[in-house]
Amino acid sequence: MARRSSDSEAGRRSRPLRRGTEGAGATDASTPPLSVALPKGRLLEALEPLLRSAGLPTAILRQPGRALLRDDPRGGYRYLLLKPDDVPTYVEHGTCEVGFVGRDVLMERGHDLYCPVDLGVGRCRIVLAGPAHGRPPPAQPRVATKYVNVTQSWFAARGQPMHLIALSGSVELAPLSGLADLVVDIVETGETLRQNHLAVLETICDVSAVMVVNRSALKLRRARILPLIRSVRAASRT
Ligand code: PRP
Repeated sequence: MARRSSDSEAGRRSRPLRRGTEGAGATDASTPPLSVALPKGRLLEALEPLLRSAGLPTAILRQPGRALLRDDPRGGYRYLLLKPDDVPTYVEHGTCEVGFVGRDVLMERGHDLYCPVDLGVGRCRIVLAGPAHGRPPPAQPRVATKYVNVTQSWFAARGQPMHLIALSGSVELAPLSGLADLVVDIVETGETLRQNHLAVLETICDVSAVMVVNRSALKLRRARILPLIRSVRAASRT
């Protein structure tokens, strides 16, 4: 939580910053960079154009390489490239002041974060899916998922019994291999379901990317973060 103490930390003195010209939350030599948690992979590809149009310097994100910590050369932003599930954790602990993540991740974990903007990008659905052909599932199906809490809540709300099987990925394999009768998973294009002979049975919810902000950082770095929220909100509406 050291980064949250104030904007007058020694850290910024050891790392001179040039006067920034960024549109969003512009910085100058007297402020440390804003730490931003980003999800690696497909969602980042969808997010990057929106972040750019919101005024964030994203050239450093487009550079190839495996570096997970990327500092914008002008000094205004420090990006951490994370597994999507870890973005809220970094922001909630204050290691990053701001983050961008799919709402599905927030639904599953219940973090204490300020979520000021739904970005409307990275749109997908959490669905219940099963074999496209064959017998209907049993009355008490085995359901494989990495969305354990979402799945339990959804079945409980319907009063429908089931056996939960927690997995961490490639859940479409579970019905194919006989491990489970059904899956709850996220679907974007539907291609993974199709290629694994599964079909959507029900949509549980629609999700897209959201901006998340550490609650203490919002108070301590208000002058920096509020303009960024406004810029991201404006970019998400265009
Ligand atoms: C997600 C999800 C599906 C796939 C859906 O997997 O779990 O497998 O994307 O996308 P589609 O509808 O466009 O085919 P991810 O790539 O995150 O990897 P995972 O299976 O390891 O979770």
